[in-house]
Amino acid sequence: MTVTVREMRWWDIETVARLETSLFTDDAWPASMFWSELAQRDTRTYVVAADGDRLVGYAGLCAYARREAYVQTIAVEPTTQRSGVGTKLLQTLLADAAARGCDHVDLEVRSDNAGAIAMYERFGFRSVGVRRSYYQPSGTDALVMRRGPAS
Ligand SMILES: CC(C)(COP(=O)(O)OP(=O)(O)OC[C@H]1O[C@@H](n2cnc3c(N)ncnc32)[C@H](O)[C@@H]1OP(=O)(O)O)[C@@H](O)C(=O)NCCC(=O)NCCS
Repeated sequence: MTVTVREMRWWDIETVARLETSLFTDDAWPASMFWSELAQRDTRTYVVAADGDRLVGYAGLCAYARREAYVQTIAVEPTTQRSGVGTKLLQTLLADAAARGCDHVDLEVRSDNAGAIAMYERFGFRSVGVRRSYYQPSGTDALVMRRGPAS
């Protein structure tokens, strides 16, 4: 498998939204959310991971130049997980945040998502707070994680 990371384009949205629904169920963004994110080019970076013609993952960052950045989303299709694609996507977003001069990057993750939390910790993200019952309708808490300039 040779996975490359490239900019997400509007013609990727249908596939991305399908993956999003299968991976996030209750919390899934509708396709309209991706259209809206891609339209905000000055503050957003959205990328996809592709194995040839097959889209196997995607990720997005919101960044305000020389201030803070947020990982908006990151996902890898189930049969491709644990083969380093999430790492590649996150590296791309963090490089972009650094290029925009953002000295810290925040994100929210479901408190029961041990796999994602482990990946973020590997990149130096640390838990800085909890948003109680953030994810609805399940009522699951969100961990707020931050990667600082020294991480
Ligand atoms: C979280 C996610 C993006 C990780 O993508 P991935 O391609 O599987 O990640 P990688 O293969 O790069 O894994 C990097 C490291 O993260 C950790 N990790 C990833 N998934 C894990 C899991 N299920 N359990 C434990 N650790 C895990 C491991 O430390 C892993 O390194 P290792 O495989 O050498 O042990 C992917 O599991 C996913 O799409 N999950 C569903 C959507 C989701 O939860 N997104 C995050 C929303 S905040």
